Amino acid sequence: MGSTDKQQVEAAAKCGGGCGSVLVTIVVTIWLVLRPSEPKCYIAAFMAPALNKTSNATTNSAIVFLVEFDNENDNVGIQYDNVNFTVGVFLDRNTTSPVGSSTIDGFYQGHKKNAQKWTSVEAHSGALNKMGKVDGKMYFRVNFTTSVKYKTVTIYSKRHRFWGGANIAVNDAGLKEENDNIRLGHYFPVIVQSGAPLLPSSFLGLLVHFVLLSLFL
Ligand SMILES: *[C@@H]1O[C@H](CO)[C@@H](O)[C@H](O)[C@H]1NC(C)=O
Ligand SMILES: *[C@@H]1O[C@H](CO)[C@@H](O)[C@H](O)[C@H]1NC(C)=O
Ligand SMILES: *[C@@H]1O[C@H](CO)[C@@H](O)[C@H](O)[C@H]1NC(C)=O
Ligand SMILES: *[C@@H]1O[C@H](CO)[C@@H](O)[C@H](O)[C@H]1NC(C)=O
Ligand SMILES: *[C@@H]1O[C@H](CO)[C@@H](O)[C@H](O)[C@H]1NC(C)=O
Repeated sequence: MGSTDKQQVEAAAKCGGGCGSVLVTIVVTIWLVLRPSEPKCYIAAFMAPALNKTSNATTNSAIVFLVEFDNENDNVGIQYDNVNFTVGVFLDRNTTSPVGSSTIDGFYQGHKKNAQKWTSVEAHSGALNKMGKVDGKMYFRVNFTTSVKYKTVTIYSKRHRFWGGANIAVNDAGLKEENDNIRLGHYFPVIVQSGAPLLPSSFLGLLVHFVLLSLFL
């Protein structure tokens, strides 16, 4: 054994656990910095012509909506599998009933890009007649589920499940009442809350988010 080899061995022995934990810290930090963040998904527009009170077009059972996908990552592209939507109506504050489903074809999205895509659902006949009023409003439920792969330089990650849902109130013209985009979040408050949104559901959403992240990454 040469003297330099010996020195290295001695240095390594001295370093022991200390260097190990420094290494772990560095690796964890790099992972935290480079870890891609999940895309965000919103309902940007929503219309149910059958609920337009000033028209008599009750035979139009289509529900049409515009979905926005945001990739906020600086250097990471996203490949989406087919995105499956299910739409339901609220019968009362506690109960939803499914009315139909649709799919947006899978697509690739570059870093820092957003994409808007239309899709529509053909509601089963009479499905909209069952809609109840919650605090005087009609509500829909939209859920989606898909998988995404993150592309860093040329390498794709494994698939990660990506899903969410939201409640959508519509006005007397059959349009989304809320002006802002509605986030299809990771939580499923399938009860229409009266008054202000409650903290626990978003907190739970956050918790679920982190549990999922730690499972999948
Ligand atoms: C809807 O139907 C009512 C009664 O049949 C009629 O008076 C009204 O003009 C119709 N409205 C439209 C926009 O066609
Ligand atoms: C609702 O129906 C009226 C009468 O047919 C039409 O003028 C109006 O554009 C419709 N509103 C929407 C949002 O489609
Ligand atoms: C949306 O997802 C929630 C939670 O899994 C479920 O209770 C609800 O029935 C779903 N609604 C539709 C329309 O798929
Ligand atoms: C919703 O559920 C709650 C608790 O389970 C119940 O007290 C309430 O009567 C239900 N409301 C409706 C409209 O069914
Ligand atoms: C979406 O729907 C298609 C066909 O119904 C199915 O093959 C696919 O597994 C679904 N994807 C997800 C993520 O649920």
